[in-house]
Order: sequence, then structure tokens, then C-alpha cells
Amino acid sequence: MESLSGKTAVVTGGASGMGRAMALRFARAGMNVVIGDVDDDRAGAVAAEARGHGVQALAVHTDVSDESANIALNAAACDAFGRVNVVCLNAGVTGSAGRSWTLSVKDWDWTLGILLDGVVHGVRAFVPGIVEHGDGHVVMTASIAGHVSSAYSGPYMVAKHGVVALAETLHHELRAEKSAVGVTCLCPGFVNTDIVAATRRRKVGEAGAVQDDLGGKWLDFSERALAGGLDPELVGEQVHDAILDGQFWLFTDQAWDEAIALKNQQILARRPPTLGHPSR
Ligand SMILES: NC(=O)c1ccc[n+]([C@@H]2O[C@H](COP(=O)([O-])OP(=O)(O)OC[C@H]3O[C@@H](n4cnc5c(N)ncnc54)[C@H](O)[C@@H]3O)[C@@H](O)[C@H]2O)c1
Repeated sequence: MESLSGKTAVVTGGASGMGRAMALRFARAGMNVVIGDVDDDRAGAVAAEARGHGVQALAVHTDVSDESANIALNAAACDAFGRVNVVCLNAGVTGSAGRSWTLSVKDWDWTLGILLDGVVHGVRAFVPGIVEHGDGHVVMTASIAGHVSSAYSGPYMVAKHGVVALAETLHHELRAEKSAVGVTCLCPGFVNTDIVAATRRRKVGEAGAVQDDLGGKWLDFSERALAGGLDPELVGEQVHDAILDGQFWLFTDQAWDEAIALKNQQILARRPPTLGHPSR
């Protein structure tokens, strides 16, 4: 995209962390913003903060795992502002943590429902309108976990590999159609957000919570790593710039370059993978 001012951005998971930072960066760039999130209080607060930058903003209660909620979010944004230009499919959770073979189907479905189905629903709800007018950009929040894997968070690893594949697929399709619409695959490393705290707030035994001892260790490791991670504001800035530059891959830092290179060398050499995250 050549300019953002006066246009409209929708950010799922915009009530907190990187999504909040994206929404506020867009507001500072003069965009109207729509926050789609399950956390109504924090989403409302981010919308109010965005309005402080002189733009219009609204918060729409949205559970991204629900197809109809994504359709309603697109409709609400179009009703308010005419069209959507930028959509950031970003809502997320750490997901259920534990051994892959003992996590229940409910655990797998809950995590994949938010992290993978949520992005699929978002593509289906928003991309037709953006492609039709042609002045837009789709950002999908994947992760380094979409490139390298670790143990005890199977649903998260599977979902993020899926988001990387979907971002690549959408990019290929839009190029084949000679569309001007861009795609960015955001692959954060460690970013200092609320995502682990949100998992800790889930009740024992509930889907999305820690389910066993090793899942617990994985979450402890993640908590320490994220506490030393990047400021989400920096990621908001990077996303803003990637949209204007039409940049497909957005890695928030270079700390994982060697691990990604090693993984690809191992594939070509037919060697088994080594741990992406040393979480034990
Ligand atoms: N923090 C990191 O280090 C890191 C690294 C790689 C990728 N990510 C990804 O970044 C994205 C943003 O996470 P964050 O770290 O900013 O976390 P965060 O917890 O600060 O923000 C996530 C937001 O998503 C919302 N959300 C959760 N479930 C939802 C649902 N079903 N529907 C709508 N909204 C929902 C939450 O309410 C919250 O506002 C996620 O997709 C996450 O997987 C994070």
C-alpha cells in the first residue's frame, strides 16, 4: 500500500500485546481502527486510546474461532467505514500445553480453533472485499513456531506451521491473480506480552490450560523468555512499515535465523530435527 491515512484497519486480538500496538500505530498513521477481541473491556480501552489520536475507532466483540463472528466483524467495519483496507489476523493464545498424545481432543480443537481456524475464517470473511477494491493488505500473525518446533505445545506448533502455509498460499494466489493486495507473514520471536499470563488464568483441566508436568515446564520457560522479549510497540512499528513496503516475511529479530537454517539443512540431509526451543 502507498498510504494508510484515512483508511481502515481491523485487528483481531487488538485488545492486548502486539495487536494493541498495531491498532495504536495505525491510529497514529491516521487510520480508523476496529478491534475484534473476546476481551471487551480491554478492546474498548484500546479503541478509546485510538480515538485520542483523532481517528474513529470501535471495538466489536469477536471470538475468531467462530466463523459467523468474523463475518459480523467485517460487516461492522464496512458499515462504519465503508471498506476494510488492512486486516491483521492476530488473535492468539499459547494453547493447551502438555504431551501431544495425552492432550484431549477438546484441547487440540480449542487451540486450533483460535490459532488456525481463526485465521482461515478471517481470510474467508475479509479477503473477498479487500480483493474487490484492491487497496489493501493482509497481515497474519504466525510465529517462529511456524518454522521450528519444540516439545509440549503441539497444538500451537501445528497451528503456526499452518498459518505460515496459509500466508504463503494466499500470497501465491494474489500474485497469480495480479492483485495489488499484499500479504505479510509476521513471525515474532519472543515478545513481552500478556499471552502466558492469559494461559495461567485458565482453570486447571480447562482447554487451553497447562495439562501436565512437562506442559508446565514449557509454560515456565515461555514466561521467562517472553519477559526478556521485545517491546510489542516495536512490532507495531515493524508491521506498519511492512505494509507500506509490501514485505512478505516479517521476522521481529534475527535470533532464530540459525535455527531456521539448521532445520532446512536437516530436511535436505534427511536428518531428524533438533529442538527449536530448548524448553527443558
Ligand atoms: N508474545 C510472543 O512472544 C509471541 C511470539 C510469536 C507469536 N505470537 C503470536 O502473536 C499473537 C498476539 O499475541 P500476543 O503475544 O500479543 O498476546 P496477548 O495475550 O497480549 O494478546 C492476544 C489477544 O488475543 C485475544 N484473544 C484470545 N483468544 C481470542 C479469540 N478466541 N478471539 C478473539 N480474540 C482472542 C486476547 O483477548 C488478547 O487480547 C498471537 O497469535 C500469538 O500466538 C506471540
